[in-house]
Amino acid sequence: MPKKFYITTPVYYVNDVPHIGHTYTTVAADVLARWHRALGEETFFLTGTDEHGAKIETKAREMKIAPRKYADEISTKFKQAWRELNISHDNFLRTTDPAHVKAVQNALQQMYDKGDIYLGKYEGLYCRGCEQYKSERDLADGLCPDHLLAPEKMSEECYTFRLSKYQDKLLKLIKNNKLKILPVNRKNEIVNFIEDQGLEDVSFSRKNVGWGIPIPWDKAHTIYVWADAFLNYLTGLGWDGTNAPTPLSKGGAGGLKFWPPTAQLMSKDILRVHATIWQAMLLSLGLPLSRTLFVHGYFLVDGQKMSKSLGNVIAPDELVKKYGVDASRYLLMSATVFGRDGDIGWKKFDEKYNADLANGLGNLVSRVANLVEKNKLELKLSGFARSGVARKIGSDKKLIKAYRESMENFKFDQALKLLWQKLRDSDEILSDKKPWKLEDKKAVKKILAPVAQNILNAAGLLEPFMPEVSQKIINQFSAKQIAKGEPLFPRI
Ligand code: MSP
Repeated sequence: MPKKFYITTPVYYVNDVPHIGHTYTTVAADVLARWHRALGEETFFLTGTDEHGAKIETKAREMKIAPRKYADEISTKFKQAWRELNISHDNFLRTTDPAHVKAVQNALQQMYDKGDIYLGKYEGLYCRGCEQYKSERDLADGLCPDHLLAPEKMSEECYTFRLSKYQDKLLKLIKNNKLKILPVNRKNEIVNFIEDQGLEDVSFSRKNVGWGIPIPWDKAHTIYVWADAFLNYLTGLGWDGTNAPTPLSKGGAGGLKFWPPTAQLMSKDILRVHATIWQAMLLSLGLPLSRTLFVHGYFLVDGQKMSKSLGNVIAPDELVKKYGVDASRYLLMSATVFGRDGDIGWKKFDEKYNADLANGLGNLVSRVANLVEKNKLELKLSGFARSGVARKIGSDKKLIKAYRESMENFKFDQALKLLWQKLRDSDEILSDKKPWKLEDKKAVKKILAPVAQNILNAAGLLEPFMPEVSQKIINQFSAKQIAKGEPLFPRI
């Protein structure tokens, strides 16, 4: 049986249009999905939008439209953005999908029936920006440090999830890496948090928020938006909220064939809830935990948090308009070490575009193709057939091994650096040997064949990052007679 690979992004809030932060997570997930498909693994890639809750309700009210209509509009914008960026998700889940709504109710009913949800009361603070309950020590000068908002004081009867019951079990599973949290400094943060502060039961329903899924046994309450949202990772596979009728070891019917997620991507803003509430919900539902939570870095734009008031928000369509689809994907994935925060900006993107793409890859490809065409050489390069379900990704075993290792460890920037090193080596061979000065065709061929093979090998491994460019180069360089083509990356 082929290996299974299940990757998720967070479901994004529809209170605002997609920006480069959402795009980063989604492109990274796409890179992994494409890579695992190339390896012949059975892959499922889920993304979507998070559409309920107080934040969306308020936003829709401000815009003077019905929340559902507002959510439809923004969710469509996310879909369009992903289509434009050539994202290959297998499902786009909206938390307002009727099947999701029903499954969430079923799941909560299960948890209620087993006594993991009880009627309690929440008295404390709530940040509508995060849609999270806050304690005094989460605040800085009385404000939520992420949203710079004063949290509201709440005092409400609510259905409460027995998170505390799962504290010890969870801590153990995190410590022994049954639930892997990467990079390891993020794991340590979570371990310290649980050890220092402990896990308190958490409110799972709201009486004063109308825009949400009704609690099935008490319609005066709606389900806490995070409880609703987390379950997307299950309902996105077709799960109906009643547990799999077949044991998971026998393939798990009921839509859970791909369960559990191999990797769940997110940034640090939402790790804590994913590592605690979400995993405890799985324990309560009797389902295996996620295998890996991977926390990538947070983007700042020219040193500052992206915000509308600063006017520095970068939207994915602006990127695509300026650089094209594949170049945008490349610029995002090479912008910073994956897992570390990074500073980005238009100037940096321009410089990198020109250096790595226009003058780098694009220039090398066109130089070599021109020379091969001019000399009418037949090079017979190797390594690009499809074998079984897996795609053959070149003939450079050493390169493939190093690349594979980088990808397994979520080191995308490193994987790209390996490929660019190959390209630079090839550039050097050309500058050294100057084949354009030679008359003897055989001598020219001797220089160009390995260079062209390098390009082809790099192009094969570039597919997850730059699917179209990769295919163009593969077509061009695996043709019997290599011909010069259009420039891949016009200079900016
Ligand atoms: N709806 C919740 C998630 C529910 S998942 C069950 C949410 N949505 S969000 O729209 O705010 O998206 C947050 C995620 O978007 C981050 O975790 C990250 O994946 C991505 N990013 C948003 N801004 C980002 C940056 N500035 N930099 C990098 N990624 C960021 O939270």
